[in-house]
Amino acid sequence: MPSIYLQTFGCQMNVADSNGLAHQAWSMGCTFTDIPESADILILNTCAIREKAEMRVYSRLGQLKALKRPDSKLLVAGCLAEKDRAIMRRKAPQVDALLGPRDYQQFKALLAEWGVPTDLPPPQTPLRMPSSEDAPGEDAPLEYAHLRSLVSITRGCEKFCTYCIVPYTRGPLESIPPEDIEAQIRREIRCGAKEITLLGQNVNSYNFGAVDFAGLLRRLGRIEGLERLTFLTSHPHDLTRDVVDALADVPAIQPRLHLPVQSGSNDVLKAMARLYTIEAYLDKVAYFRERLPGWALTTDIICGFPTETEADFQATLSLVERATFEYAFVFAFSPRSGTPAATMTPQVPQEERLRRLQAVSAAQNEQTRRFHERFIGETVSALVSGPSKKDPARMAGKTGHNITVVWPRSADAAAARSPVANLVIEQAQTWGLVGRVA
Ligand code: 5AD
Ligand code: SF4
Repeated sequence: MPSIYLQTFGCQMNVADSNGLAHQAWSMGCTFTDIPESADILILNTCAIREKAEMRVYSRLGQLKALKRPDSKLLVAGCLAEKDRAIMRRKAPQVDALLGPRDYQQFKALLAEWGVPTDLPPPQTPLRMPSSEDAPGEDAPLEYAHLRSLVSITRGCEKFCTYCIVPYTRGPLESIPPEDIEAQIRREIRCGAKEITLLGQNVNSYNFGAVDFAGLLRRLGRIEGLERLTFLTSHPHDLTRDVVDALADVPAIQPRLHLPVQSGSNDVLKAMARLYTIEAYLDKVAYFRERLPGWALTTDIICGFPTETEADFQATLSLVERATFEYAFVFAFSPRSGTPAATMTPQVPQEERLRRLQAVSAAQNEQTRRFHERFIGETVSALVSGPSKKDPARMAGKTGHNITVVWPRSADAAAARSPVANLVIEQAQTWGLVGRVA
């Protein structure tokens, strides 16, 4: 029975795609291993969003060259396979095949070509999902991994923000039929999922027949047994009041919204082709805050975009300092060849990009810590992720706001196995909360 080593880089979309590839391979009789040396087929599902992500993939490819057996096969899947299609063979001759995110229907044929029999039944061992991060074997313990499930609702993106490679690697927008999404969610619930995350580059552009994203949320909210529902990512231009109303109306939806702002300056937003002004963004946020007080608003910010002046940067910094967000992912601009921003002038020097990134991160960290402090003395419910990686004497989980929380492991075996913990919060840090079982 051929064994597969599968390692995933990048976003949740890639994790969902890896799960799909793993399922296809498992259905053909393949098993999985965390040890590259013993695998017959090695797969890297890759990311190209920033240069750093790309470099991590190439460095892993270098390591695998030494580790892989001469008779095993190496497949590079994902966004970098698409982006570097023409140059990968030269940069990494050890790679045997490339499959971009739009090519996964060819995966089984590729396995067959590599000698995997097409008539084997699935193995007796259950499907073991590959690790969800780039550290195989260190993912959430199996008894907890199935509690969370990723369900794609769209593929591709056609917004063409001027910095972003994704429309080139993942292609145009496609919405998945609502019946298929419902069927998958029902399957995941039967397998024990407590939280479903709907995935798309821009879930707000979901459109299938007469069903838009707000309609989809309302429809999915009626699925029996669906306890927690959340989604990633929203483009501010397409987030309507109707969607915000649906968030308020569907009880399973978790109290958090990820709404990437990217910049606080209108000139930069324009150069990014983000299709909104900061005033329009803040109008949407005001409606969201009014309808959903106490929810967490999280965002993405790019520092040092080409043409960004000191005044533009100050506008972003002040947006953060005004406590607009509970959490932010802050990135330094990374030029992606083929995108318009890569050749825009003037480019901001790398040290300056990093200086701005550090200032914005520090300001956001202060806001995040203050947000966390509001939970001290409160009782929160957390979906368990498993024993804490840093301290196995503690359990770790995520609150509805998506805040990491850790607490001492209970001696009581039944309580220790429960997927949900009710916790009294005793301490707040920037990274999360510390509590005890309520
Ligand atoms: N450089 C830096 N950050 C980027 N992102 C996307 N493309 C780039 C780039 N070229 C960030 C955006 C996006 C998040 C997923 O990654 O903030 O929202
Ligand atoms: Fe995901 Fe974008 Fe990275 Fe592709 S480039 S893996 S879509 S984050």
